[in-house]
Amino acid sequence: MIKAVRGTRDLLPPETALWNFVESAVRDVFRAYNFQEIRTPIFESTELFARGVGEETDIVAKEMYTWEDRGRAESDKGQSLTLRPEATAGIVRAYIEHKLGDRGLNKLYCIGPMFRRERPQKGRYRQFYQIDAEIIGPASAGSESPARDAELLEMLATLLDRLGIKNWTLELNSVGSSAERARFNEALRIALAPVKDQMCADCQRRAVTNPLRVLDCKHPEDQPIIEKLPRISQFLDEDSRKHFDAVQQILRAVGVEFQINDRLVRGLDYYTRTAFEFTHGALGAQNAILGGGRYDGLSEALGGPPAPGIGFAIGEDRLVMSLQESASAAALRQPDVYVAPLGAGMNAEAARLARELRRHDLVLDLGDETFRLKKSFETATKLGAKYILIVGENEVKAESFALKNLATGDQVSVPRAELARKIQE
Ligand code: HAM
Repeated sequence: MIKAVRGTRDLLPPETALWNFVESAVRDVFRAYNFQEIRTPIFESTELFARGVGEETDIVAKEMYTWEDRGRAESDKGQSLTLRPEATAGIVRAYIEHKLGDRGLNKLYCIGPMFRRERPQKGRYRQFYQIDAEIIGPASAGSESPARDAELLEMLATLLDRLGIKNWTLELNSVGSSAERARFNEALRIALAPVKDQMCADCQRRAVTNPLRVLDCKHPEDQPIIEKLPRISQFLDEDSRKHFDAVQQILRAVGVEFQINDRLVRGLDYYTRTAFEFTHGALGAQNAILGGGRYDGLSEALGGPPAPGIGFAIGEDRLVMSLQESASAAALRQPDVYVAPLGAGMNAEAARLARELRRHDLVLDLGDETFRLKKSFETATKLGAKYILIVGENEVKAESFALKNLATGDQVSVPRAELARKIQE
């Protein structure tokens, strides 16, 4: 038997109803904040991610699905392509390519699959889905303002509340400008040199390649060492500090709770200043539902104009997981009516009636005239329909149909014109 590839999975009904529920709630919220959808290709040049996300990151160094794409003809050059591991680099590439900066501030979102060759576990897949949003534009359009950071974070709080997700925590940090971060990284490197041999294998490697990532280490034995390391807050200059204070001030004014976590560094290199994650207790080890932050230098790193920006990506798989119990009832709309045609020629009559009833925003499913009544009842019950509606020759002649409530067992004969109202009661 051929099975789905390790780390990938099929999303099946009824769970897909939850995904649709999430996506339509998300689109509604985005609309209220004037975000518009962008769709970019799921593969891009490998160079985009190497330059955008950073050569030293785990994502680029270890996790990308990359291949040499052969040209089709002599004249057609081959090139290295990669399945997108995240959406931000592609969106900023599109921003530059289509000169979206000419429009002023852009508020963009995209929903789709991302690919990372990680070790699969609960909440971690090799094909997973992100709901990604970005605010990007020239500084003159206000893209650099702390008001944008706060707006985005407030929108996320609204969204999670609206989805009925409780007990989320917003963890907030400032990772400084790239110059500040470089100084911090150097200070970490120096502080780690004499102690790194006492740390886990990952930390020993990171202490050399990317000291910032040591702060992410979850090994209990390493924590006392990490606690004594320098803090990013000691390296922020006045502008960065002011920016961070202003974000916090707005969040307090609008009543969005947060915790400062000065060890939050994020796994992508493009971040500057504000960085954040929303975590959720029910998710276990992979507890980040979403992450994001500012990336004020990314456009320039990709050869574009200065274009400060901030964004986030929600892990949709994890969002759906944290929602599973609370919202499945709301998302799952079972059929209102199962229409059971009874006897030859009744498929057409049942179809006509179903067409009429669906105009009243009812959810209907339809049987077949060859089914015996017993089979129709069994099917209707299995589908979780509220009513079964019998369409037989006598009913059609009388223009009145037998409607049975499957939960209570009550059965009434209802004239055609009153059916929709009766079902909606
Ligand atoms: P990220 O933190 O790498 O950020 O990913 C964002 C979210 O995607 C994570 O919090 C997690 O929920 C989900 N996620 C990541 N990897 C996996 C996986 N293997 N399986 C399931 N879910 C996963 C970014 O990707 C940035 N582009 C976010 C951003 C947008 N920053 C600025 N704008």
